[in-house]
Amino acid sequence: MSSIKFYKHEQIPVEMHKVKIVQKLNLLETDERLKKMQEAGFNTFKLHNGDIFLDMLTDSGVNAMSDNMQSAMLRADDAYAGSETFYRMQEKLTEIFGMKYCLPAHQGRACENILATRFVKPGNCVIMNYHFTTAKAHITRLGGRVEELVKDEGLVSKSNLPFKGNIDLEKLEECIKKETPENVPYIRIESGTNLIGGQPISYENMKSATDIAKKYGILTVLDASLLQDNLYFIKVREEKLKNKSIREITRMIADLFDIVYFSGRKFGFARGGAIMVRDEELFHSMEDLVPMFEGFLTYGGMSVKEMEAMTVGFDESMDMDVISQGPEFIEYCVKRLDEYGVPVITPGGGLGAHLDASQICSHIPQEEYPAGALVCALYLCGGIRGMERGTLSEERNPDGSERFASMELVRLAFPRRVFTLSQTEYVIDRVKWVFDHRDLIGGLKFVHEPKTLRFFTGILEPTSNWPEKLVKAYKKEFGNQ
Ligand code: F0G
Repeated sequence: MSSIKFYKHEQIPVEMHKVKIVQKLNLLETDERLKKMQEAGFNTFKLHNGDIFLDMLTDSGVNAMSDNMQSAMLRADDAYAGSETFYRMQEKLTEIFGMKYCLPAHQGRACENILATRFVKPGNCVIMNYHFTTAKAHITRLGGRVEELVKDEGLVSKSNLPFKGNIDLEKLEECIKKETPENVPYIRIESGTNLIGGQPISYENMKSATDIAKKYGILTVLDASLLQDNLYFIKVREEKLKNKSIREITRMIADLFDIVYFSGRKFGFARGGAIMVRDEELFHSMEDLVPMFEGFLTYGGMSVKEMEAMTVGFDESMDMDVISQGPEFIEYCVKRLDEYGVPVITPGGGLGAHLDASQICSHIPQEEYPAGALVCALYLCGGIRGMERGTLSEERNPDGSERFASMELVRLAFPRRVFTLSQTEYVIDRVKWVFDHRDLIGGLKFVHEPKTLRFFTGILEPTSNWPEKLVKAYKKEFGNQ
């Protein structure tokens, strides 16, 4: 993408694809949006997609497929056992990751369930650069704990560091010694850290971290769900690897790990997941969990059509023209917001643009969920659906007190090949308006609070009538549009 230079224009990202199928969007009137937000219990997960203008909740399962992915669906081989589709998918994954064995699963968290069920015992400590909600929930469900050792600089919102997802190597070694290697069932590296702004991790850091793990005989697991963005960043930001192809970099990374798993809703641009393993014994030790939780070993709960599409998607993830689209649109959005003075995580990472709600809504205490409130404000003022990635997405401490997130973020995801630059401009415009009227935003409190993963299904209400006041100010500027 970035290879296209302009003659009389500042550099902007140019799509290396064209649109062949479209979906009509719906922009509700402002008053209607307020009603829908109230009905959704001030939880953007509970909005209906038809009531949303730009759905930037996630990139999970909503990336645009290519013509080649869609046409591959037609040759899907339906069989309970031994589907040819599975063997094609396995062969492609083996080619890409150099790992022989594939355990299919219906999505990423299903892989996390299998890994945790197989390896985590009560009292165990799983070390990570940073947790992901479902990865952590499966570990704690089994009585385990998570230690997050991302370098301190990863939690600084404004920065120009290229790899803010890097794990702190000194702390890693200290932590292993403190816990003792026997108590650490595996070290999980998330390449492309979801919850701290989609920030990448360098190859060099992955190499050093896995070397330490090997020294202590600890299993290494790569969460490759966001690998395609991370590959792009390694290629453009890691000097030593700039002459390597994406395929070569992928293989070098996979060679460091014992296990690679991913959400096919992200990696592969379809819907599904898999665990890849090099060692036969390791594979057999998890094999029985697939038919127990997912489906037979040659579909793992996935539709064969999705598996065929994903197999093409894996190849497309090795194409710089394809994988640059997300990060370059995100960078464009982040730069523009930064120029407007809106606190945003810099440098732009993968997955989406991340607004720093702790700064934007510094007047809202953390126990009133500033990021949760800001994400609601964006829907009210523009019909844009983002996702809260802060305290609301955490679980309470065992004593019932709030576990405050280290960052209060609103994520505006950029599903790949979905939104245009003019839609991105609209988002920037509305975020700026909300930022300029941030004093009107107030807090939220739970009305119904589930014990686990409360952000998915919880119901909240505003702590005052701030949504009405915000909508009134918005209508003054834009009418009931
Ligand atoms: N790991 C990472 C890094 C993820 O971002 C996700 C999902 C998962 C694992 C779980 O995969 O959804 O297929 O079960 N992230 C989605 C998101 C939900 O919106 O960021 P899954």
